[in-house]
Formats: sequence, C-alpha cells, structure tokens
Amino acid sequence: MATTDLAVSCHEVRKHFGEGETRIEALRGVDFSARFGELSFLVGPSGCGKTTLISVIAGLLDRTAGELAVLGTRMDDLSGTRRVLFRRQNVGFVFQQYNLLPALTAAENVAVPLLAAGTSRKEAVDRAKSLLSRLGLGSRTDALPSTLSGGQQQRVAIARSLVHEPRLVVCDEPTAALDHASGEAVMGLLAGNAVQPDRAVIVVTHDTRVFHYAHSIARMDDGRIVDVSRPNGSPRTADRGPTDSSVQEVFA
Ligand SMILES: Nc1ncnc2c1ncn2[C@@H]1O[C@H](COP(=O)(O)OP(=O)(O)OP(=O)(O)O)[C@@H](O)[C@H]1O
Ligand SMILES: [Mg+2]
Repeated sequence: MATTDLAVSCHEVRKHFGEGETRIEALRGVDFSARFGELSFLVGPSGCGKTTLISVIAGLLDRTAGELAVLGTRMDDLSGTRRVLFRRQNVGFVFQQYNLLPALTAAENVAVPLLAAGTSRKEAVDRAKSLLSRLGLGSRTDALPSTLSGGQQQRVAIARSLVHEPRLVVCDEPTAALDHASGEAVMGLLAGNAVQPDRAVIVVTHDTRVFHYAHSIARMDDGRIVDVSRPNGSPRTADRGPTDSSVQEVFA
C-alpha cells in the first residue's frame, strides 16, 4: 500500500466510538495520503472527523478497521508499546486544546519530548528556550501555562511538537488563536520543517489566511474525504518568517 513518496497512507480507515444506541461512526472509510516534503491540509465542518483522523494517524487512537501506514511502517503491525515508542520518536502532535502540563513552565513543557528521548535536562531546556524565542516567547519561557494567553499557549504547544525534529508533525488548528503575524511565523516554521525530503506536516485548519501554504487540501465531510485539491501554483516560499536555515540552527 505505502509507496516511497507517501509519509502517510490511509485506506478505508474506520473509527467508531461507543456501542449500541450511543455508537458514533466518526470515520466511515477514509482514504487519505500525505506526501513527504509537503504541507497537507485537512479541512471540513465541525464534527466531520478531522481530529479523530489525525489522532488515528498519530497513533493516539486505535482505528476500528482499515489500513494505515505512517513513515513506511504499517501501524496495524505494531503492538501498543511499540506504537508508543514509534510515536514518541517520529511524531509531533499539536492538540486542538494545547494539552500543556500545568505544573511545568513553558520551556519545560517544550523540553518534554527531548527528555523522553534521553537528552540531558540542561540541553533540553536550552533548546526549548531557543525555539520559544523564535516563536516570540523568549521573555515567557519560565511562565506557567495558566499565566499565558491562548495564543501564547498555542505557540508553546507548537514548539513542543517540533523540538525533537519528528519526521511527521500533525497539528490541530495550530493558528486558531493567533494574530496574523504569529500565524505566519508558525506556518513558516511548519513549512520549514515539512519541505525536506523525509518529512511531512499535516495541518487541520479553518484558517483561510494560511491556505497559501498548502501543497494539498483534503476536504472531509461526515467521516470521509470528499475532495483533494492541489492549489494552483507553488505555495508561497517568500515571507515565511524564519528561513529553513534559521530553523535548522534552532534545531542544531
Ligand atoms: N471520545 C469520543 N467519544 C465519543 N464520540 C466522539 C469522541 N471523539 C469524537 N467523537 C465524535 O466523533 C465525531 C467527530 O469528532 P471530531 O472531534 O473528529 O470532529 P472535528 O472534525 O475535529 O470537529 P471540530 O472542527 O469541531 O474540532 C463527532 O460526532 C464527535 O462527537
Ligand atoms: Mg477537531
């Protein structure tokens, strides 16, 4: 099923919640793919299954049926523990509700994926602070999440998803709480991350201000992908905020 230029490949993926009268068919046979080196957007009305689909792709939820390959690995072949390890190493996830740990500072939250991978605490926090600075939060690295605005929390969540340089980054509404300039900076970082031959980014969004970054746009409705378009012309490469090389520097 998976071919080499596909970072993610879903075939007839189904997911239901509950049983009997309360059963909800959230995914009703999804065919979806995301190519390496691209920003793939996923759009659709509220409740159509976007968060469920990217949670299944990221290994946060188990699918009910169907085939799923991520970065060349068949997810159905992995046991629970191996799937957690695979996710930790290869996937960065930005939650719609941010899901920051309330007792940790902004920098400590961002450092979590590095600490989980065995990086020393000092190096992890230094790299976290450096990335937060790139996102305009250099003066708030020691703040607790409860003292940050929604947009600031969102940028911390984005930094956490990128800090360990995962090959697949999956973002649920990453610019919803951001003003135009912050949204552009975030999309610039994401674009810098994706446009590499062995990486990919999937973005769920309602934010038409950032559609010009998309290489492909998949439209979802009622648990299925109903349309995939590849926007005319190349996505914008100028004015992306941080350049690829400055992003590399942060991650060096
Ligand atoms: N844990 C759950 N238990 C039961 N039903 C759920 C659960 N998570 C999602 N659903 C249902 O599955 C369907 C798809 O939900 P999902 O969160 O994927 O939608 P969405 O497209 O992300 O919506 P939004 O744009 O509002 O975030 C909805 O009907 C929702 O109520
Ligand atoms: Mg959602």
